[in-house]
Amino acid sequence: MSDSLSKALSAVTEALSNPPSPVNINLGTAFQLLGAMDKLRVMLEPPNLAVLNLSLAPYALSATRVAQGMGVFNAFVRANGTKDLTLEELDAKTKGDRQLLFRIMRHLCACDIFTLVEGTKYRPSQLALQLADGSPVGDCVKHFYLNMRVTSFLNEYLEERNYANPVDATDTPFQYAHRTKENPFEWLARHPADQAAFNSVMTMNRKLIETEWYETFPVEEKLQVSADRTVLVDIGGGIGHDLSLLKQHFPQLPGKLVVQDLPGVIKDIREPLPDGVEAVVYNMFDPQPLKGAKAYYLRTVLHDWPDKQAIEVLRRIREAMVEDSILLVNELNMAGSNPSRIQTAIDQDMMEAFSSLERTEEEWRALLNKGGFDVVKVWKPAVKGMVELALYEAVPKP
Ligand SMILES: C[S@@+](CC[C@H](N)C(=O)[O-])C[C@H]1O[C@@H](n2cnc3c(N)ncnc32)[C@H](O)[C@@H]1O
Repeated sequence: MSDSLSKALSAVTEALSNPPSPVNINLGTAFQLLGAMDKLRVMLEPPNLAVLNLSLAPYALSATRVAQGMGVFNAFVRANGTKDLTLEELDAKTKGDRQLLFRIMRHLCACDIFTLVEGTKYRPSQLALQLADGSPVGDCVKHFYLNMRVTSFLNEYLEERNYANPVDATDTPFQYAHRTKENPFEWLARHPADQAAFNSVMTMNRKLIETEWYETFPVEEKLQVSADRTVLVDIGGGIGHDLSLLKQHFPQLPGKLVVQDLPGVIKDIREPLPDGVEAVVYNMFDPQPLKGAKAYYLRTVLHDWPDKQAIEVLRRIREAMVEDSILLVNELNMAGSNPSRIQTAIDQDMMEAFSSLERTEEEWRALLNKGGFDVVKVWKPAVKGMVELALYEAVPKP
């Protein structure tokens, strides 16, 4: 073994034998190390092993989804995560055949989602305990498992279109795969369980970054209004999670906070929103009923749309603004030359679902410009995570 590899092996062995407590792990260092390990894997893996790992990855997702369906993760959570369960014990708490359960659990052990201890008992990993029903992490699996239906048709769709880059929101891989004219939001509205999973996943995304937009943006300085004015409208704000966090951080912020979204989403708000936060059904392609708010805010909403529709949404906001109103667009900034795999995968997800894309800073500036706005400042978190969100502060062009 080369000297540098044996040193790397010793360092990894040492880290594994003396693991830091999860609360002491610095996210920045962890991301750097994970990036280095990915590169090391590419360097070490022979192509025939690499192709197997690449090709077999979807099976881990589908086995996880089946385990959710059978109630495996719920069973461990109900046992408080403290109890290792034998196959017989788990079988008594889940749906379906014992032999199927055995095969699924065998794969999940091979994927490190469970560990087989004492030869007969399954011990859940930290991840396994988050995959039960009702958790955003578990809903992430449900959402992306559903997306695989579209992914499996992508090449066929593109081949029929001579591999043209998808840009038409009315002819998307999603529509092709689902044999529908509906866009994903219209489709979700008819599938409440999938809609609930989608809404829940949206509340999870922020865990990939360390800094919330309002920790970088000077909220108290920029969002001062009289108590009877709407201070911020969160358009496409999902189940109000972003505004709830904002209110938690700034309980004294004057003015009303309003979250707007489609009926199926607003209906799915289960926990009461904090005082001062209202939820309203609104389609962002219609005239904006809330005129003259201080700020109109969109977080990862425009990335769902190609330029044509995104410009329409911006037009509706411009029409509702008054002299001192501002636009705040919180979006993933696609790093120009070196985006992470998470960023590029989300870009492909946008392509598949919406014929849309993740944009670079230049593309965001160009879009806002075409939509009639001047960007005043791009607020970026000091600490970068695996995805970089940036907050574009913009005002209508004179
Ligand atoms: C990617 S999610 C982002 C949710 C939330 N802003 C966040 O960052 O977690 C996009 C949101 O836009 C909403 N949306 C899509 N089309 C809409 C429309 N025509 N009018 C209002 N909201 C819409 C979706 O229901 C969804 O909640």
